[in-house]
Amino acid sequence: MLIKNQNDVTKAVLSELDRAGNPRFKQIMGSAVRHLHEFVREARLTESEFQQACATIATLGKLTTESHNEVVLIAGSLGLSSLVCLLNNGDHGQTETTANLLGPFWRMNSPRTANGASIVRSPVLGDPIFVNAWVKDREGKPVADAEIDVWHTSGEGLYENQDPTQADMNLRGKFTTDKDGHIGFRSVKPAGYPIPINGPVGELLRAQGRHNMRPAHIHFLIFKPGFKTQFSQVYSSDDKNLETDAQFGVTHALIGNYVRHENEPAPAPDVKGPWYSLDHNFVIEPGVAKLPRPPITGKATDERPESVVLERAESPR
Ligand SMILES: [Fe+2]
Repeated sequence: MLIKNQNDVTKAVLSELDRAGNPRFKQIMGSAVRHLHEFVREARLTESEFQQACATIATLGKLTTESHNEVVLIAGSLGLSSLVCLLNNGDHGQTETTANLLGPFWRMNSPRTANGASIVRSPVLGDPIFVNAWVKDREGKPVADAEIDVWHTSGEGLYENQDPTQADMNLRGKFTTDKDGHIGFRSVKPAGYPIPINGPVGELLRAQGRHNMRPAHIHFLIFKPGFKTQFSQVYSSDDKNLETDAQFGVTHALIGNYVRHENEPAPAPDVKGPWYSLDHNFVIEPGVAKLPRPPITGKATDERPESVVLERAESPR
């Protein structure tokens, strides 16, 4: 159609969308077009602001490589990833869920590890931690034979794939739940870490006076045929950044009870100093068991990444 004024543009685009054969495509794109056009009207976007937005989106793509995904990072930094997770889990957003973000560091083929064993495959900084986790269905019945991948950072806040000084697959393991739906393992308590800020995500955080830290957490991926595969992260209850996670991942259900033990015998006799325990329950939902595409495939061989930390401004910008 020929366009007379700004209202006609939206009508023209939507009427062309009507030609699409795939109803879901039509629904998604129709909603995107209506909201994008309305966003431009509401914000009264100027031409130079629009050019800036296009340049930013192009940079998100340019910075995305085999080992870094700036698009996923900004989706998290805007809360979109959390929103998608919470709308698609917990009975489609109706109830609390132990599902969370997959994050950018899951690797396939973690070493199979016996229940109770350690996932420390080369020495790293960090206090010993003994983790017990239970998987239940929505009726509270234990789920046996679920495969659980576990991965987390060292006490220095680095995943093994980022850190050439750690052994391959350090602090990663694949466990199978027993008849009680239980797994247990030993590791070191993870530390929080800064997300990269050398691109649009850094500009976004600086403009708001936000820091770039994620609170310390352990990742879990629970796979069992007949159930929706669940990604989860259990956050350290003593982390100062729980309320200001740069990726908006922390939910009430996922603040783990990381208990510090001093002068108490640890479950392993070689532990002399303080140690931690973490017990956590996961609830998985009926659905399709499907592994995600691994966001990364290997381990860094170059230097450790430089850790750049932004301070949170005392008052809003
Ligand atoms: Fe993580």
